[in-house]
Amino acid sequence: MTPADTTITVLGAGYVGLTTAALLAHAGYTVYALEPNPERLDVIKQGKSFFFEEGLDAIIKAALDRGTLIPTDSYADSVPRSHIVFSSVGTPDNPDGSSNLTYVFAAAREAAAHLAPGSIYVQKSTVPVGTGTRIEAVFTELGASIHYVSNPEFLREGTALHDTLYFDRVVAGGNDSQAVDEVLAVYRQLETWRDTIATAAGIKPTTQTGQYISTSLNSAELIKVTANAFLALKISFANSIAKLSDEVGADIVDVMDAVGADKRIGRAFLQAGRGYGGGCFPKDVSGLIASGLDHGVELEIMHAAQAVNSSMPGYIVEKLLTSCDGNLSGKKVAVLGLAFKAGTSDVRRSPGIALANTILRTGAQVTTYDPQALGEAEEKLHDGIVQFDSLEKAIAGVDVVIIATEWPEIIHYSAQRYAEAMQGTLFVDAINHFDIATVQQAGLRYIGVGR
Ligand code: NAD
Ligand code: UGA
Repeated sequence: MTPADTTITVLGAGYVGLTTAALLAHAGYTVYALEPNPERLDVIKQGKSFFFEEGLDAIIKAALDRGTLIPTDSYADSVPRSHIVFSSVGTPDNPDGSSNLTYVFAAAREAAAHLAPGSIYVQKSTVPVGTGTRIEAVFTELGASIHYVSNPEFLREGTALHDTLYFDRVVAGGNDSQAVDEVLAVYRQLETWRDTIATAAGIKPTTQTGQYISTSLNSAELIKVTANAFLALKISFANSIAKLSDEVGADIVDVMDAVGADKRIGRAFLQAGRGYGGGCFPKDVSGLIASGLDHGVELEIMHAAQAVNSSMPGYIVEKLLTSCDGNLSGKKVAVLGLAFKAGTSDVRRSPGIALANTILRTGAQVTTYDPQALGEAEEKLHDGIVQFDSLEKAIAGVDVVIIATEWPEIIHYSAQRYAEAMQGTLFVDAINHFDIATVQQAGLRYIGVGR
């Protein structure tokens, strides 16, 4: 089958699904982006994304105009025409931390009634190991004669297009090797178009070459959660050493620069600070712990990663309190950066929001700013926190500035300009980005994490 004869449906046009659908619609395929949420679907039909991701709107619009991307809420219109159906619905956590697979099974059951015999159902959502086998059983029970492939997603928000086009690896696993190969072939096809798509999206092409990896079904599922858990572990490890650095007067940035210079270790994901957030690491770590317990395996190391991570916002606020004699009452504090990282409007489990809400409880007056996440942050910020639509307004006359996210606008604002705008002198660098001497030369007191 050539791409021109191949129709694909992507179930769930969220961060992953919409990115995948828009990219495949530029690689020669006709792609249905199926989204049941009417507000989200409406935005997509206007040629936009409902979240901020660099370059994505441009390629959604172009694919809609060409008719290769078809937004829909109908399984009946899309799935029966499709040789390949990607499922990328959400897998949030249950209150006990385990993975909530409601949407994954609902999508599979709904698709089952419409899937063409011999088609391929590809799971992109992050699921606990063993889920694919359970879904295969559902398809068998419902009489859907299809091939099931696990194809976990590794993109990061903020660099979603880049990560998909210039991937480290594409993993596909399943019981039918031909179906696995067909899924990998879709990515090979995308790779042939990647520089053209990147240019259309305004992203710089690179020469990165990634690996195509085929595995068993269970291995593919386990690869995904293991990768996220290990990255989360690295961050919590760096934060543990940051706490020791604070006690002994070392600088965690220097420490990790040198530790990470060892190629066996690597510098990535050793940036200490306010800890990890987002729609994935927190729930994937708790999901892995729960999945381990289901199989009688206690993953103590992940409990530790979790505990360190949740301690970080409080740890930073304690450091700040120590610098102002334990009293922030009535002080004006600006928290800059509410997205869980730069480059996205996503505020799920955002450390910036945790910091703002924690500071509010000390009796301080809290102002905030984020270049993209103001709308999404609104309902997560406690009453009394004031959001401003510019950095300048948020920091005017404040006693304390807290840098919570590495948005270029926030980190490229010079220490001198922060000092001029503030009334006080406390500068909390919760992402350890700034040069300490430069901040101090601007007349500010620098508070980092492990520095
Ligand atoms: P999301 O919440 O942004 O998107 C999921 C979409 O699925 C929603 O728009 C929702 O309306 C839709 N949906 C719900 N039920 C549906 C159904 N029955 N049929 C069709 N659509 C349905 O989630 P996301 O962040 O894109 O994550 C999706 C999956 O990918 C999760 O398992 C996540 O862990 C994984 N993942 C996410 C990222 C990321 O950066 N966000 C990266 C890698 C993997
Ligand atoms: C992460 C993984 O990096 C992706 O490979 C994966 O596909 C995705 O989760 C997923 O499964 O959803 P993402 O959450 O988008 O991607 O963003 P990251 O860049 O990994 O950052 C996660 C959090 O860790 C952010 O809050 C970030 O600020 C924080 N972080 C990251 C640190 O605190 N220190 C670091 O050194 C790196």
